[in-house]
Amino acid sequence: MCGIVGYAGKKQVLPILMDGIRNLEYRGYDSAGFAIIEPNGKIKSVKSVGKISALEEKINGTEVNGTTGIIHSRWATHGGVTEANAHPHHDCSGSIWLVHNGIIENYKELKSHLVKKGHKFTSETDTEVVAHLIEEIKKSQKLTLPEAVALALRQIKGTYGLAIIDSHNPGQLIAARNFSPLLVGIGDGEYLVASDASAVIKHTRRVIYLNDGEYAVLSPDGFEVYTLSSRPVKKDIKQLDWDMEVAKKDGFAHFMLKEINSQPEAIENSIRGRLIADEGMAKLGGLESIKEKLRDVKRLHIVGCGTAYLAGKVGEYMLEEYAQIPVKTEVGSEFRYKKPVFEKGDALLAISQSGETADTLAAIREAKEKGVLTLGIVNAVGSSIARDTDAGVYQHIGPEIGVASTKAFTSQVTILSLLTLFLGRQRAMSLVMGQRIAGEIKKLPALIKEILKTDSQIKKMSQKYSKYGNFLYLGRKYNLPAAFEGALKIKEISYVHAEGLGAGEMKHGPLAMIDNNFPSVVIVPKDSVYEKNISNIQELKARGGPVLAIATKGDKEISKLADDVIYIPKTLEMLTPVLAVVPLQIFAYHFGTMKGYDVDKPRNLAKSVTVE
Ligand code: M6R
Repeated sequence: MCGIVGYAGKKQVLPILMDGIRNLEYRGYDSAGFAIIEPNGKIKSVKSVGKISALEEKINGTEVNGTTGIIHSRWATHGGVTEANAHPHHDCSGSIWLVHNGIIENYKELKSHLVKKGHKFTSETDTEVVAHLIEEIKKSQKLTLPEAVALALRQIKGTYGLAIIDSHNPGQLIAARNFSPLLVGIGDGEYLVASDASAVIKHTRRVIYLNDGEYAVLSPDGFEVYTLSSRPVKKDIKQLDWDMEVAKKDGFAHFMLKEINSQPEAIENSIRGRLIADEGMAKLGGLESIKEKLRDVKRLHIVGCGTAYLAGKVGEYMLEEYAQIPVKTEVGSEFRYKKPVFEKGDALLAISQSGETADTLAAIREAKEKGVLTLGIVNAVGSSIARDTDAGVYQHIGPEIGVASTKAFTSQVTILSLLTLFLGRQRAMSLVMGQRIAGEIKKLPALIKEILKTDSQIKKMSQKYSKYGNFLYLGRKYNLPAAFEGALKIKEISYVHAEGLGAGEMKHGPLAMIDNNFPSVVIVPKDSVYEKNISNIQELKARGGPVLAIATKGDKEISKLADDVIYIPKTLEMLTPVLAVVPLQIFAYHFGTMKGYDVDKPRNLAKSVTVE
C-alpha cells in the first residue's frame, strides 16, 4: 500500500528520503510528499500528485536543509488523488507532521469532536485527524510529544504505520504501528523508519520490528520503544540478510507468492469496519448515499474480465441464494457488444482490481447511457472505473504486482459476500442467517492462514503432477467459478493447458479425453453438491484418470477415492471458493516456478488490460 520512510540522524535528510521512497516505487502509488525540520525550526514540506519524478521536478533547485524528516508515497483510500490529500499531514499550528499507512476507522467521530474544538482541516483524509488529535492532547494536557502520541493512539480505532515529527522537538522522530508494517533501521547515530525493508537496507542491515500497539522514539542519541500504555519494551535487533530484490518481496521469492501469503491480511483489510456481526449486517460506506435506491434493485448485471469475472460468478450464486436478486454475470468483452436488455430496477456491478480494464469500463458506459445505476468493486482508488460508477466498494488490499490475480480474487469474493449481506438484509434475509454469514466471513483470514501452512505439501503435489500437460479443473455451484480460476492460474503462469468445467458437464463431452495421462483437479468440499461430485470422481477413476481433490478437512471418504487430497477448513458453502482457490494458487505457483518461468510476469500478458 502506501510507502513510508523517516530519518533522524546527522546527515542531510532529503537525499536519504528521496532515495528511500524510490525504493518503494514498485508498490504502486498515486502521489508523494515529504516534510523536513529545517535548521531555523520551521518545517519545509513539498507534495505532488503522480510519480516520484514529479516530486523531484517540483523541488528541483530548491534548497532543503535538515537532518530529520519523513516522506510518503500514497495509495489513496480516503479522499481523491490530490495534493491536499497527499501526505504528510499536519496539525493547525503546522508543527506536528505525520505520514500514515492504514485506515483510521473512527476518523469521522474524532474529526467532528476536533472540529467542535476549533481545529481546521485541510484534507479529506482519515490521516489528518491523527495530527490534530495529537496537537489537542499535547496542548490541553501539557504533555511531551511521545506522551501525547501514546494517548492519541489509544483513542484511535483502525490500522496504522505512522512516522511523526514535531518542529518543537527537532531531531526526534516517532514511529508507531498497529496492523500495518513498520520497521526501524538502526545505524550509527542515525535511525530510519520504513514500511518496507527495501528502503533501509542501503543504510543499515540492523533492524527492529515494531509489534502492534508499540511506538518508538528515535533521535541521534538513541532509541526507546514503548507500549501505548507507556511501558518500556526491550526489542531484539535483527539482522537483514536479504538483497534489495528479496527485500521488496518481503523475503518471498516472487510477488505472486508474497501476495498469496498476504491474503489473510488483505481480507482483513477488505472487511475492516464493514461487518456488524451481532446485527448480521454489513456497513458499506461507499453505498450509503444510494442505500435507498438499492432497495429497489430488481436485477443485477455483474461485469468483469478474467479473474474479476470469475469472482463475479461466485457473487451471482451468493446474491441469488441469499439476497434473492436475479443476477446475470458476463465478461466485459461480450457485454459491450451484445446489446444487453435493461429493465426498470436493473443495476450493473463492475468488478476490477485495476479499475482500468477497457472492456469493463465500456460495459459501465453502455449501462450509464441507458440510465442504469452503476456500482463498482474496485481496488485502485481514483481509477477510471471507480470514478465512472455511481457508487462502490473499495477492496483496500494494496497494489497487486504479480500479473496473476490472487489476493484480488479472494478479496472480491469476500466483498461480494458483504454485499450479499447488505442487500439480503434489505430484503428477506433473517437476522439469524445474517449473523451466521457475518460470523463465517470474520473467520476467513484465520482459515486462509491454516491453508498457507500446507505450502510444502502442495509443492510436492505440483512436483508429482508436473509430468502432465493437460488438466481438467472441475467444480459445481459455488466452486464452479473457483475451478475456472484454478485452471486460469495454471494456464497463465505455467503455460500448461487446463480447462475449467462444471463437473456435471463432463459426461456431455469432455469425459472422452480422460485416460491415465489426463488428470483432473476436483473441488469437492462437504457441501450441498458433495455426493454429485463424488459420483463424478468415480466416473473419472473408472476411466483411469488421476484425481487431485480439494476437500474439507476431516473427510475420510475422499482419501479412499482420489489419488491425492489437499484439505481446506470447513466454512459456509457460499464462502468455500475463498478457501478452495488458495491451494490452487499455490499449486499453480510451484508448477510455474518449477518450470523456470517468471511467474510474476507471464509471457504475452499485462497487469492492466486497457485495450479491447
Ligand atoms: O484489473 P482487472 O481486475 O479488471 O483485470 C481483469 C483481468 O485482466 C485479470 O483479472 C486477469 O484475468 C488476471 N490477471 C488473471 O490472473
